[in-house]
Amino acid sequence: MSPQDRPSRTTEAFFGRRRGKPVRPQQAAALESGLDAYRLDLTADAPSDLRTLFETEVSAVRLEIGFGGGEHLLHRAIEAPTTGFIGVEPFVNGMAKMMMAVRARPLANLRVHDDDATRLLDWLPPASLDGIDLLYPDPWPKKKHWKRRFVSPVNLERFARVLKPGAKFRFASDIDTYVNWTLLHCRAHGAFAWQAAEAADWHRPYEGWPGTRYEAKAIREGRRPAYLTFVRK
Ligand SMILES: C[S@@+](CC[C@H](N)C(=O)[O-])C[C@H]1O[C@@H](n2cnc3c(N)ncnc32)[C@H](O)[C@@H]1O
Repeated sequence: MSPQDRPSRTTEAFFGRRRGKPVRPQQAAALESGLDAYRLDLTADAPSDLRTLFETEVSAVRLEIGFGGGEHLLHRAIEAPTTGFIGVEPFVNGMAKMMMAVRARPLANLRVHDDDATRLLDWLPPASLDGIDLLYPDPWPKKKHWKRRFVSPVNLERFARVLKPGAKFRFASDIDTYVNWTLLHCRAHGAFAWQAAEAADWHRPYEGWPGTRYEAKAIREGRRPAYLTFVRK
């Protein structure tokens, strides 16, 4: 592969659509002003203490990768106002929806990144996050596309670098092959301990779980979600 053929750095782990239906004028306005206010500036160095990124005092910082329409992120940020949340979503329509929501209800404990999460992960200082949520990542169910899955040795190494010891990586999916894939990759990586006291834990939603839009569709279509929790050793 020549250097020109290689995917650009910003799309290393993003293979989805960046745009769906045209964004309505009101959403476009909310997107523009929202990104001005909430978007992280990755051209500047990351602060050594991520808590300084937020307008309000926070005691911990969590990351949600691929928040879709933002329903879960919004719920968590409202539920825990003294935790800072960084949300990542490259899909413009998803980000526009989230920015509409924060226009109606501003959140001082929120920041966002509107591109591939790998860029943000590489920008973050080591051992700086208290949690990472990867909820219903694009499933890529066909075997020939498995290499596109966000969970990979290189991205687990990114997670291991930025998570504090004892911090949690949570992964939810309705695709059995992806659940097995994640269990195997986390075990092979070595920095993550799977937290499951008994078999039933696998299917028990996280505490205070509001569900996600993608999950609701999976359940309607008869697939059973799995909720994995790994602790950074
Ligand atoms: C199947 S959807 C799930 C959305 C949401 N979490 C939910 O459960 O409703 C997966 C999301 O991950 C986003 N995504 C895919 N690759 C990504 C990447 N490399 N960095 C950040 N987000 C990504 C997609 O744009 C999409 O919105």
